Amino acid sequence: MSEHERTRDESPWLATTDGPRFSPLEGEYDADVAVIGAGIAGIATATHLKERGRTVAVIERDRVAAAVTGHTTAKVTSQHGLKYDHLIETVGEERARQYADANQAALEEIAERSEGLDAEFERQSAYVYADDASDREQIHDEVQAAKRLGLPAEFAEDGDLDLPFETGGAVRFADQGQFHPRKYVLGLAETIPGEGSEIFEETRATDLDPGDPCRIRTDRGTVTAESVVVATHFPVFDRGGYFARMKTKRSHVVAVRVAGDPPEGMYYNTGEPYRSIRHHRFDGEPLVLIGGENHETGQGGSTKERYDRLESFAREQFDVEEVAYRWSTQDYSPFDSVPYVGRLGPVRENLYVATGFGGWGMTGGVAAGRILEGLICDGQHPNSEVFSPARVNAESAKSLVTHNAEVGAHFTADWAKSLLSGTEATLSPGEGTVVKTDDGPVGVSRNESGEINAVSAICPHMKCVVRWNDGEESWDCPCHGSRFTPEGRVLDGPAIEDLPRRGAREK
Ligand SMILES: Cc1cc2nc3c(=O)[nH]c(=O)nc-3n(C[C@H](O)[C@H](O)[C@H](O)COP(=O)(O)OP(=O)(O)OC[C@H]3O[C@@H](n4cnc5c(N)ncnc54)[C@H](O)[C@@H]3O)c2cc1C
Ligand code: FES
Repeated sequence: MSEHERTRDESPWLATTDGPRFSPLEGEYDADVAVIGAGIAGIATATHLKERGRTVAVIERDRVAAAVTGHTTAKVTSQHGLKYDHLIETVGEERARQYADANQAALEEIAERSEGLDAEFERQSAYVYADDASDREQIHDEVQAAKRLGLPAEFAEDGDLDLPFETGGAVRFADQGQFHPRKYVLGLAETIPGEGSEIFEETRATDLDPGDPCRIRTDRGTVTAESVVVATHFPVFDRGGYFARMKTKRSHVVAVRVAGDPPEGMYYNTGEPYRSIRHHRFDGEPLVLIGGENHETGQGGSTKERYDRLESFAREQFDVEEVAYRWSTQDYSPFDSVPYVGRLGPVRENLYVATGFGGWGMTGGVAAGRILEGLICDGQHPNSEVFSPARVNAESAKSLVTHNAEVGAHFTADWAKSLLSGTEATLSPGEGTVVKTDDGPVGVSRNESGEINAVSAICPHMKCVVRWNDGEESWDCPCHGSRFTPEGRVLDGPAIEDLPRRGAREK
């Protein structure tokens, strides 16, 4: 058996847990608050609301914590790259402190709750290291900024890091953590049903009427509630133009078994190519998780080659015995790099949102849960201002213009290409291509059994042309990050509808 035949194309978090655990909705259900989406943000919010005496209905399209939360690297830290120096400069010290406090409190909440949940939480230091000495100044600035905000930051020399290669030193945050994200979220989810609260898995929200009460239609029935929290990663009911205010960051991970002890600590570098490193013990057996190769969804070339580059890095730096798992997922980043947590839209409806965690949704999702609890139960939360979806700042405005010009360029170029492309190529298993037909651009792919799937190649969100992802065998939209299976089912992103099937084709 070759090395790659042993590699599992899934995340170890999903491979080591089960589900579904909760029944789908049948008919009608009424609760004080409906939470749509059962990732870490949705379940953290539902837990807080239930603890405050509210009844909650959680509606989940698939399984609890099986989407992005089931594919993360699960560092639990208030250290979010070189964040705080930048935040003080762009949003001011008061709001930067709100961000720091919210995330540091979320870390401590996860540590405390993990004790009762078998979530494999372990204290670790978090490091952002400089690739070489030329980045040391940035590192020192970050240490000073984080300290000013009360965070446990200090400068660490290269010799203090447990890495097999040289660095230019690092910002160290002490007493941070890592855990098994799915065990944590499933553990919390088990505490929700009862006393008027319920979780419905395999139940997809399809429509939202913000009346009094709010009414959520699903493919299984209807839920009514006074308030609704949209925690579907990208907000499926986009009443705030979120598609134009965030960009996608797709990222890849390999989990490798190494000879000897894995490195202690959780790592992230300042430069390119970006690499994230931590270890986790699955049933006592350590794997080193190496992440990186970030790019915008649907853009920037072959996914298979990205995995190859991560694996080469792993083999150069560690004595790799086996590549046990590899997987990918994506997160959304607001242009000012602060999540959107608060009212969903500009109108004063009882609709709330938690999105845009920018690769830091473990503490971000839990912090969102606390803030939404405060907004819904008390009408305020001391850390809510910096996360307000209604904020406008110069940085967002500038990036919004540039990004949407790029989206426009993809739209035009891809349509032009698809109309020019002539015939269907000869496809091998795992390949896909967009071809011109009288019905417009059609995405044609061949699966491992040799069968051909044909779907419309026009993204239902805003009509960009999707592109084939050769690593995960999906159709990915370069404009705002929607993703679809080869059969056209929505996997992620602003799109709510599937890609329509096109006529069956010959093998
Ligand atoms: C490669 C990678 C590594 C990362 N590593 C870290 C890390 O080390 N530390 C960290 O803090 N963060 C990390 N992150 C970020 C973090 O994983 C995410 O921010 C977080 O998991 C997002 O949680 P969520 O609850 O918003 O989304 P999700 O977990 O995706 O949950 C949303 C849920 O909504 C459901 N849903 C969607 N549409 C509907 C619908 N119509 N009806 C009903 N349900 C619906 C989905 O099925 C899903 O279960 C990483 C991200 C990536 C991409
Ligand atoms: S995600 Fe917006 S057009 Fe596809």
